[in-house]
Amino acid sequence: MANSPSGDSVTERLLRVLETFTPTRTVQTASQIGRRAGLPSSTAHRFVGELVEVGLLERDEDQRVRVGMRLWELATRSSAALRLRQAAMPAMALVQSRVGEHTQLAILEQDEALFLERLSSPDATSNITRIAGRLPLHASSSGLVLLAHGPAELQERVLAAPLAALTPATITDPAALRRKLAEVRRLGHAVAPGSIEEVATGLAVPVRDRSGAVVAALSVVVARDAAVDDALSALHRAARDIHSRLER
Ligand code: PHB
Repeated sequence: MANSPSGDSVTERLLRVLETFTPTRTVQTASQIGRRAGLPSSTAHRFVGELVEVGLLERDEDQRVRVGMRLWELATRSSAALRLRQAAMPAMALVQSRVGEHTQLAILEQDEALFLERLSSPDATSNITRIAGRLPLHASSSGLVLLAHGPAELQERVLAAPLAALTPATITDPAALRRKLAEVRRLGHAVAPGSIEEVATGLAVPVRDRSGAVVAALSVVVARDAAVDDALSALHRAARDIHSRLER
């Protein structure tokens, strides 16, 4: 595909444009997109116009743009994430009704935990996860599960990089993180009190496919000082149910 003077391909520039949208930045002007994507204004306006034309972006009355339903439709239609989400939804609904707190499903994506689904009740504990949002592996309960069962190279890469402290309780020492990952494998779940938000504790279990590989983490977020045993047993039961629903 044709490259720009700076050498990046149309596909790379398209990706940069789409990546300027985040769970908290859902509407932007073409100029803002251009600035954030590092594109000249005229290129950004042309790109955005073409993407609106084919429905991948949508424009509102104020000429601001958001991600289009067509993009959602194409991305969702045949993705592995959809199959996983469909297998998980009945079990997630049960966990959510039993525990009464946020219940979410995450997968490993580019060294972060990517959240595919979240079920919440209005009066549940504070929760910073967003559907299609990400959390760091070392700091969230889902991330700890995905990291503990992830490839050895991933573990070494994460352990070698600086471990950002999101709260005073986040594990930032590589040796302590290594011990925590061993504990997660030994216990079969992760408990992360105050690790990403001081007021909340994350609890997560691995979800395995029919081959036994860990394909996702199922988690709940409870108040920091809440009892965790009932929530953990609900999570373990749900993970077994999802495992049995996943196709061979
Ligand atoms: C966690 O999984 O550890 C977690 C996630 C979101 C929160 C708090 C904890 O808001």
